[in-house]
Amino acid sequence: MSTLSLYDKVMATRDALRERIGDRSPVMALILGSGLGAIADAAEDAAVVSYDDLEHIPRSTVPGHAGQFVCGKIAGVECIIMSGRTHFYEGHDLSELTVGVRAMIALGARGVLVTNAAGGIHTEYRPGDLMCITDHMNLQWVNPLRGPNDDRLGQRFVDMSLAYDRELRRILAKEAAAKKLTLHMGVYAAISGPSYETPAEIKAMRTLGADAVGMSTVHEVIAARHQGARVIGVSLISNLAAGIEDAALSHEEVTLTANRTASRTIELLTAFIPKAAKELAKKPRNPAR
Ligand code: HPA
Repeated sequence: MSTLSLYDKVMATRDALRERIGDRSPVMALILGSGLGAIADAAEDAAVVSYDDLEHIPRSTVPGHAGQFVCGKIAGVECIIMSGRTHFYEGHDLSELTVGVRAMIALGARGVLVTNAAGGIHTEYRPGDLMCITDHMNLQWVNPLRGPNDDRLGQRFVDMSLAYDRELRRILAKEAAAKKLTLHMGVYAAISGPSYETPAEIKAMRTLGADAVGMSTVHEVIAARHQGARVIGVSLISNLAAGIEDAALSHEEVTLTANRTASRTIELLTAFIPKAAKELAKKPRNPAR
C-alpha cells in the first residue's frame, strides 16, 4: 500500500501524464460515463495513456468503461479525457477516486465536464433524454475531502452553493436549443450502489427534489471545486428509475440506451466545447470560497 499523500499522488500522476502528452496544454477536462466513451474517439491527434500505466489511478472493472486518458483536440480545443471511471462501489476510497480529475486540473484544465448515465426520477424524463445538472445531492453520505486537508490542493471548507457553473450551463442550454435537442435542467442524486434503488427509495428521492439518480460524479465535482475548476455536468437518462415502470433495471439497458443516443450527445458536446473554452479563458478559475 502506498504511503504517499493525496497531493503527492496527484502530482505523480500529473507528471506521468505530462511525460506522455508532451507540451499539449489541455484547457478542458472531460470524464466520460457509461456508454459515453465514443466522445474520446472524436479527439484528434490524440495521445492515449492507459490507467494500467498510472500507479495511482484505480482501474475500472465495469463493462463500458475503457480505462484510459485521451489527450487531443475536440472542435479545435485541447482536451484531456478520462474515458472510463472507477466507482465507489468497486471498493476504493473516495479520495483515491479523485486523483484523476485532480491531475487533469493540475495539468492546467480550467473546466471539468462530467458526464454520466443516470436513472430518470422526474416523471417527464424519458430514456435517451439529456439533463444538464444544476445541483446535486450526495446520498452516498461520504465526502472525498474527509481526512486531513492539503492547502496546496484547496481549502478545508468548500462552498458548493454554485458547484455547477451558471455561465457554462447557459452556454450548454443555448447550444441544445440551437440543435433543437431537449435538455432538461435537474438535480442529480448520487447513491453508492452497486444495487439499484428500491421503488420506495426513488419515491423518497423524488420527494426530496432529485430528478435523476446515479452512482458517480459527485465526488469528482467536490474535488474539482476544491481545486477551483469550473464544472459542468450532463446526465444521459438511460432508464426510468426503479418502480416508475413495471420493469427490471439492468446495466445492459443502461449501456444500450447510452450507445443508442451517443451520437446526439457527442454532437451537443462538440458544439459546446469551443464556446465553453472561450468562457473559461475569461474566468479560468472560480476558487471555492
Ligand atoms: N440508478 C442508479 N444508477 C444508475 C441508474 C439508476 O437507475 N441508471 C444508470 N445509472
